[in-house]
Amino acid sequence: MRLKKLRNDMSLKSKRVLVRIDANVPIKMGKAVDGPHGRIARSAVGINWLLQRGAKVIVMTHLGRPNGRRVSAYSVKPIAKRLSSLLGCKVKLARSIIGKDVQKQVELLGDGEVLLLENLRFDSREKENDASFASALAKLADLYVNDAFSVSHREHASIDAITSELPSYAGPLLSNEVSVLSKLGVNSKRPFVLTLGGLKMTTKIPIIEHFASQIDAVLLGGALSTAFFVAQGLAVGKSVYEKKAVASAERIMKVAEGKIFLPTDVVVVRALRKDAKQEIVPVDQIQAVHRIVDLGPETIAEYVGQIEKAKTVVWNGPLGYCEIPTFCGATRQVAKAIADRTGKATTIVGGGDTMPAIENLGLADQFTLLSTGGGALLQFLAGDKLPGVETLKL
Ligand code: 3PG
Repeated sequence: MRLKKLRNDMSLKSKRVLVRIDANVPIKMGKAVDGPHGRIARSAVGINWLLQRGAKVIVMTHLGRPNGRRVSAYSVKPIAKRLSSLLGCKVKLARSIIGKDVQKQVELLGDGEVLLLENLRFDSREKENDASFASALAKLADLYVNDAFSVSHREHASIDAITSELPSYAGPLLSNEVSVLSKLGVNSKRPFVLTLGGLKMTTKIPIIEHFASQIDAVLLGGALSTAFFVAQGLAVGKSVYEKKAVASAERIMKVAEGKIFLPTDVVVVRALRKDAKQEIVPVDQIQAVHRIVDLGPETIAEYVGQIEKAKTVVWNGPLGYCEIPTFCGATRQVAKAIADRTGKATTIVGGGDTMPAIENLGLADQFTLLSTGGGALLQFLAGDKLPGVETLKL
């Protein structure tokens, strides 16, 4: 898949470039939680490329889901701070998203300077893909760049409608993610191992179905595997799972028969506390007081063995309850096994929840692709067309 990209020989000096990034990261105590391989850090590379060429850069992003209202907790102020420290220059903060004041701030912008617009989702027209909102955004600039793969599955004004208003291009982060991901499926080498964890079955089922004939093993963990236990009639005690996922689990076991790997042993606790006593039990011995929090050693060994044979590995979602680090052992060991396999295999890892474990282990740069996408990654892999990508195709 080839996308329209900015070329090195294009003159960008004094051009006003409107760049859509996805800086939707957790905000804790007024600070953006974003490691060296986080969404903001990775978007800064494309912004810096534009600044080096003397462009005036107007950055836009959403943060959270404020539902079309101005909510101070969702202001992009912490993002301006993070971007300033990444870029080594002051990122100015616009008072609003569009309007006269913002227009004025853009006029005052010098070459190689950056202005960050307020949260796009403070205006309900963003999510409605509204043409008048897109046109007001377009008035601020000469060119548009989408460098936000992780929100390109949304048909929103700053992703889709805007491309009818301005000459539009894909940024380096978007281009790279699309280029690596679009080779999967057609060129994926076997054995192909899909590793899935986390909770939301509904977003993960389409991937299993899409790749069913090309996959050799689907390794399941987290609350996802609990839904499969229930489908098999096993007791799961107090473990969390998506109830409506049980019927899907039954169906998937037929669609991908013989390829689904489920845990054979798990770590259980009686209270969800970091100092809770951990017990390792076979999956047919889970009691009413137990809550599954991680995979057991036998399962981890089996999963690592599958990964060590793979030529393609795709992983999304933690395999245990990683909010508490002591229950993140399987996730860490699987992350390490996938990182070790990179080079011998194509390894694709994504999803915001897996990111902290990967960054803590220092493994972020050890995969073929560490995708910024959660929902976007899953939809792309499941064969869906992403509006933000479709509109930039050559
Ligand atoms: C994400 O975090 O996956 C993207 O920023 C999209 O956010 P959304 O699901 O609120 O549209």
